[in-house]
Amino acid sequence: MASRDQNGSDALAQVFKRFSVEAHVGSSPLYASLADGISNDPDLLALASSATHRPIPNLLFGAVHYLLLRGANDKLSSFYPSMTREFRSGIDAYPYFRAFCLEYEHNIRDLLSSRLVQTNEVARCSYLLPAFAFIAGQNPGFPLSIVDIGASAGLHLLWNRYCYEYNIKVVGDELSRVRIRAKVRGGNPPPIPNIFPRIAFQIGLDLNPVHLTDPDSALWLRALVWPEHKARAIQLKAATKLAIDNPPSLIAGDALETLPSVLNQVPPDSTLCIFHAHTLNQFSLDERARFDSLLDEYSMENDVHLLSAEMLTRVDYGTLNLVSIRGGAREYRKLADVDAHGSWLEWTDDSITK
Ligand SMILES: C[S@@+](CC[C@H](N)C(=O)[O-])C[C@H]1O[C@@H](n2cnc3c(N)ncnc32)[C@H](O)[C@@H]1O
Repeated sequence: MASRDQNGSDALAQVFKRFSVEAHVGSSPLYASLADGISNDPDLLALASSATHRPIPNLLFGAVHYLLLRGANDKLSSFYPSMTREFRSGIDAYPYFRAFCLEYEHNIRDLLSSRLVQTNEVARCSYLLPAFAFIAGQNPGFPLSIVDIGASAGLHLLWNRYCYEYNIKVVGDELSRVRIRAKVRGGNPPPIPNIFPRIAFQIGLDLNPVHLTDPDSALWLRALVWPEHKARAIQLKAATKLAIDNPPSLIAGDALETLPSVLNQVPPDSTLCIFHAHTLNQFSLDERARFDSLLDEYSMENDVHLLSAEMLTRVDYGTLNLVSIRGGAREYRKLADVDAHGSWLEWTDDSITK
């Protein structure tokens, strides 16, 4: 009979195997190739298994990328498009990656046990903007109160300071250093507002808010962007500067603990929008159920609009969903299909006149 360790290692091998396929979809040939190598390597699977948070592949790749960006001088960096213009093919990278991990094992173990996967993808605002406008439109005349669950550095809370360059129109702050380019697909245009909804209250909750004024935290966030994704890295840099000048309000702690007191601060004459993007995969099933009950209970007194963009099932794009919760009753509606990194959206809800 297989031992527990063996079962754990087999399961982790499968996780890396799956990642190697998905990383192709997510366009990182380097990580696809490395993940495939790790899935067959007991030493690196043992190292990866010391991670205390998930998703483990993103955490391990983030740790190695962070050490390279911080200056660990190694031949491995010649395979990273983020480290050099003339990068080598990722297909040949595995022996170098393996050697690097064994040499820096101690540092990597430290990072695997102390850091979280906190990628804050600014471009997801491309679909948050029409969704906020849609929700504000449910209650004309009232400002929005926005609570971001799993806010990371809170870059989504700066959504009304960005310029949005959709293929069909440009809106927002035309002078903003953060320019979000996104393609609107399909024949049903999203409700992209010329004038942004008013805000009564905005706050982000995170287990470990990333304060971008701290250069090391900013570097960790940078390291989580995949090496091939240069445009994302440039956008993150621009948004980091904006966030340093305009720090978003962030509360540290488990959202299940901090949310009740935050909800008590929501101004009564406002439309409450709670949203979470790429966060619930870090909640256990029990935590997801507790989150639902907490909102159901709150909705006995106040309406909740729960907006979510998660990828909890195995598809190569996400969906943007809205649940309106009133008196504990839930009304579900899918708003859009969306790219995981916000590069395109296809509005599917047809319940509005534009
Ligand atoms: C992958 S990041 C996504 C960040 C951001 N929502 C985005 O889409 O760019 C997930 C975030 O959820 C946070 N998180 C995970 N579990 C949490 C919890 N129980 N309470 C609060 N934040 C949590 C993590 O710390 C991390 O910053």
